[in-house]
Amino acid sequence: MSFTTKDVVLKEERPKTLLLQKHSDYLASYGLNKDDYEYCMTEYLRMSGIYWSLTAMELMGQSHRMPKEDIIEFITSCQDSESGGVSASVGHDPHMLYTLSAVQVLAMYNRIDAIDVEGVVRFIKAMQQEDGSFFGDKWGEVDTRFSFCAVMCLSLLQRLDAIDVNKAVDFVLSCMNFDGGFGSKPGSESHAGLIYCCVGTLSICKRMDALHADELAWWLCERQLPSGGLNGRPEKLPDLCYSWFTMYQSTLTIKTYTTQSSLSMLNRIHWVDKKNLEQFILACQDAETGGFSDRPGDITDPFHTLFGLAGLSLLGNPSIKPVNPTYCMPQETIDRLKLEPQILH
Ligand code: FPP
Ligand code: ZN
Repeated sequence: MSFTTKDVVLKEERPKTLLLQKHSDYLASYGLNKDDYEYCMTEYLRMSGIYWSLTAMELMGQSHRMPKEDIIEFITSCQDSESGGVSASVGHDPHMLYTLSAVQVLAMYNRIDAIDVEGVVRFIKAMQQEDGSFFGDKWGEVDTRFSFCAVMCLSLLQRLDAIDVNKAVDFVLSCMNFDGGFGSKPGSESHAGLIYCCVGTLSICKRMDALHADELAWWLCERQLPSGGLNGRPEKLPDLCYSWFTMYQSTLTIKTYTTQSSLSMLNRIHWVDKKNLEQFILACQDAETGGFSDRPGDITDPFHTLFGLAGLSLLGNPSIKPVNPTYCMPQETIDRLKLEPQILH
């Protein structure tokens, strides 16, 4: 049995340089027309949209172009006074994903005071289950991405003590597979996005020692395709957002190999061809509209725009500010909050 590789071919006339001004203009005007079809259709994830856009703007040094006071007022109005959780938009159900996005935005603005912090802590604590896992909301879906939301959010609020961290870690570890990767729940297949969530949880809880870094690095290195892009799972097309989710792992695992000081192992760490990956990310820019898309030629959106810029930041692009690999927020915010997520040495 043979497998055909699913991949894209980069065109010769693709964007090859970073179009920063275009991206800043794209994000500054995104949502200015509230009747815009795409804007209306994405109301269910509005809070995360604000986090993606603001973080991207911060990384470009352009956050002054975002309507700060309106954003803060919007977040305050999305907090549910009963449960304490935050929703995607006014009148929606509170959810872990949007509670995290709200706290990330307020942390960047240094305005955590704009919400009831004890309410947020109460909401997250109530989502933890006996086995250490977390519900996403009152409807009871369990997923390792909610474990990550819980610990990231509480660490930004300096309130990790509110949950059972050991149990949270044990649950995440119960989702580790034979290949060193992680899925959404015990027994679910490895997925680069969920590996990011699980490794991020271990990084914040300072339990990176529990990783099977060799196996994990092998699985991750196989995500890069001939086009330079990375996919999230075997047999899938490359997608720009996995440049972020997967590159993140490489910043952790490369350090492991480096400190084992073996030249042959150093050779093995050249598994991500950085030049090719950079070309793929740049090719995902839209030179007319600004912004990045999942694959060259597709329609751009704020989600892929953030991960395009954050991926280039991890690759060391000097025009973009350093991003913290665990929090996907500017390193300067993480330093101001004196947070030190663990990285393997
Ligand atoms: C792909 O999902 C992405 C993930 C599973 C990771 C999402 C991570 C979070 C929501 C945590 C918060 C993130 C940050 C950056 C703070 P998908 O269902 O689209 O996967 P598919 O590509 O396989 O369809
Ligand atoms: Zn994507």
